[in-house]
Amino acid sequence: MARYKFPQHFSVLAGELGRDGLATAEFEGRPVQIKNGLPGEQVEVRTVGVKRRKALVEAQAWQPANPERVEPACKHFPRCGGCTLAHVDPVAQLASKRGWMLAELAAAGVEPARVRDDVAGPLMGYRTKARLGVRKIGEQVLVGFRESFSSRVARLDACMVLSEPFSGLLPALSELIGSLTISADVPQLELAAGDPVHGNAAIIVRHLAPLAISDIERLQAFEQRYAIRLWLQAKGPDTVVPLTDARDLTSTSSFRSDGQLLLGNPDFGLNLLFHPSAFTQVNLAINRSLVREALISLKLRAGVQVSDLFCGIGNFTLPIARSGARVFGVEASAPAIAQARKNAAANSVDCEFAVADLYSDAVHRGSEHAGEEQLRRIRASERLLLDPPRSGAGPNLAGWLGPNLSTLVYVSCNPVSLAEDAAVLNSNGFDLASVGVFDMFPHTTHVETLAVFNAR
Ligand SMILES: C[S@@+](CC[C@H](N)C(=O)[O-])C[C@H]1O[C@@H](n2cnc3c(N)ncnc32)[C@H](O)[C@@H]1O
Repeated sequence: MARYKFPQHFSVLAGELGRDGLATAEFEGRPVQIKNGLPGEQVEVRTVGVKRRKALVEAQAWQPANPERVEPACKHFPRCGGCTLAHVDPVAQLASKRGWMLAELAAAGVEPARVRDDVAGPLMGYRTKARLGVRKIGEQVLVGFRESFSSRVARLDACMVLSEPFSGLLPALSELIGSLTISADVPQLELAAGDPVHGNAAIIVRHLAPLAISDIERLQAFEQRYAIRLWLQAKGPDTVVPLTDARDLTSTSSFRSDGQLLLGNPDFGLNLLFHPSAFTQVNLAINRSLVREALISLKLRAGVQVSDLFCGIGNFTLPIARSGARVFGVEASAPAIAQARKNAAANSVDCEFAVADLYSDAVHRGSEHAGEEQLRRIRASERLLLDPPRSGAGPNLAGWLGPNLSTLVYVSCNPVSLAEDAAVLNSNGFDLASVGVFDMFPHTTHVETLAVFNAR
């Protein structure tokens, strides 16, 4: 039987919006996923690809417009794959995310006592971290996010969600990479910025071939001109080195000589430093709200024992310590913990830290001396803060819940793992007191949630 071929252009009625931000539909009995479509709209679409027999399409016209539709602020939507919800009213974007998160909890059998109001922040220029693809086509170099439904790099002249100084820098980056002798061997750039102050931004240039002297000179000229510190990465993540040695920075340079970026949290009188490749929350304004609300929910007082698990460079740990609590931060990345310790010392706050793989069996069973002591510390906590990666708290969660624990605050970037962990907490004596979404990633489908569990 001949394989079915979707037409290049067709018209279809858009159904529900999936959690990937794509509306679902059927055309001649076959499934369709629509970018830039909304429920109830009859959309004129262009077929972009076919995957597992589903047509992947972009809507180009619609009638009638769904009431939640808005004019996207970015002209590169929907072609650029960086954003999926730019055509949806921002209030409705958040409401959808709240709905997805609550549906996951309900499916796991967990019901919150209270749903908090959504917390909104800046809609543009918020994103301080991004990994951009680089692709050379003929003599032209493209720098940007991937196109929707494709591994091709989108042709962008600006990105409105990127923070300064990156937002309008894409043409300059294309020109820079295009001017290098190894322009075909630069697959990726990693952007990182801290507070919006001059010289507080960095780009890690991944390169697959050695740089010529002329390349280094061009990169150094860019570094000076845009006050963005450049780093080079020849192989894995531990090969990241600064382009310009601290000793060679000019006296007028605005960079910190140690290459670190600065992240202030004025609510707690704190300044944290971080390496450009370290994890930091991408949205500075929402991060401040998140830290503030997490600390209120922890109901801290002087001397209370807190463990901050998956603590990174101390984004929550240092504010917790500032509140007079005794805090123990645990994290798998040794460089992050080294930085967290330096951050605590530089801000004159008392925190204790340990490097540990919190998913590992050793920590859970206390089968090694260090693991045993860490587990004892965690189980002695009166409060726990968890901020795990997308995969969630992991298999040891129930083992961390000691007899003194009254409140557990869970910061999640994935409603699916949050719901799984909420079910574990529920069956181990903790009720979900409140839950709410924070708009960490406007125009994308990422969902950031703050959930508070209290002992029954
Ligand atoms: C979402 S980030 C949160 C970091 C920090 N709380 C913050 O706000 O910046 C998750 C952290 O978990 C760490 N991590 C990932 N897997 C881990 C594991 N198995 N054990 C311990 N930490 C882990 C990552 O290195 C990362 O720092």
